[in-house]
Amino acid sequence: MPKYQSGFGNSFETEAVEGALPVGRNSPQKVAFGLYAEQLSGSPFTAPRATNERSWLYRILPSVGNIGRFERVDAGLWLSAPETELHLPMGPQRWDPIPLPDYPQTFIGGVHTITTAGDVSTHTGMASHIYLITKSMENEYFYNADGEMLFIPQQGGVRFCTEFGIIDTEPGEIAVIPRGVKLRVELLGGSARGYLCENYGGSFTLPERGLIGANCLANPRDFLTPVAAYEERDGIGASLYVKWGGGLWRTEIDHSPLDVVAWHGNYAPYKYDLRLFSPVGPVLFDHADPSIFTALTSPSETPGTANVDFVLFPDRWLVTEDTFRPPWYHMNIMSEFMGLIYGVYDAKPEGFVPGGFSLHNSMTPHGPDAEAFEGASTAELKPQKLSGTMAFMFESRIPQRVTEYAAKLGELQTGYVDCWRGLERRFVERSVATSRG
Ligand code: FE2
Repeated sequence: MPKYQSGFGNSFETEAVEGALPVGRNSPQKVAFGLYAEQLSGSPFTAPRATNERSWLYRILPSVGNIGRFERVDAGLWLSAPETELHLPMGPQRWDPIPLPDYPQTFIGGVHTITTAGDVSTHTGMASHIYLITKSMENEYFYNADGEMLFIPQQGGVRFCTEFGIIDTEPGEIAVIPRGVKLRVELLGGSARGYLCENYGGSFTLPERGLIGANCLANPRDFLTPVAAYEERDGIGASLYVKWGGGLWRTEIDHSPLDVVAWHGNYAPYKYDLRLFSPVGPVLFDHADPSIFTALTSPSETPGTANVDFVLFPDRWLVTEDTFRPPWYHMNIMSEFMGLIYGVYDAKPEGFVPGGFSLHNSMTPHGPDAEAFEGASTAELKPQKLSGTMAFMFESRIPQRVTEYAAKLGELQTGYVDCWRGLERRFVERSVATSRG
């Protein structure tokens, strides 16, 4: 079982071999045990302290000593903004789950891009992907120079063997791998499916809590970062894949890049159990905005306007009086990509199934379907617990463009918009008596 350290954005320190971590300095003339010191910068050197991210890695070989010539290779279905070929017609879109393939497919080929937003080359925007994995990576390593990766397992556990240590995840948990962190993705069971947000923008961080105060929502202590773990493998004739500039590149390496014996810093991968999120909501009447369910946010330069928010809809009590309790009808400047990890989503009791996903783009109307409206407007408003459910949303200030792959999927529900057709006209005009005549 991997071991972890607790906290969010701490200055962590960890060593797999006692004495490997320099004390009181980052770059001694000779690092213990003949290790090399290497800094990994996740922010510009001069970023303000609150957003300054870097770690020092003490490794068997520096990264540059373990690469050859890079060649561009086929990225398969992993696309990047703004390289999308097709736009679906305007309107709400929803898909059924994409089945796992019946052939061996590692993480590298298993990323299927559904939407992209922004521009990978300017570090703005994001992409929503589905990953389908039936084979562990062997003798293959990868890092993403284009974005931070937020993995949301939906079916099957995944092990991330990273430079910083090992992270195991199962459905109900997430893992975040910062830009530039090398890893190998392995299966914990026979196969794995999940969602992946590739965040081209600023690193995910915890949202401000404002008047909520110091507690609730996602609490820092529930985030877990691995302890140092390394492998010493040479003469392996392996491939290092790099996603860079929207393309996929490959170089041959002869030594495992997961050779970091000790590290310290605040730029590191982490996991989080979504079931530990402590929701806060209205307790008398009315409906708060879904922003109260934000677990992580990638801010933009504009205050309060996220490059992408990661928002959860977990188990919770509904207690409000004289209130339409499901999410209200909505048109939004932000674009909303939703997925369902397990259970039932209250605004869409039918048709939105675990593993499926939907897109309500910028200024696309959406809201509860006819069945949900009917139920919610006639239900007895006693306290009700939504149990065993976990939906999420990637909400971006940038419109999301659908890939040709996603637009042509057989899983695209062509009749999705019909779920609102049953919304009847209920307006009854009260006749105003005219006194004339
Ligand atoms: Fe919405």
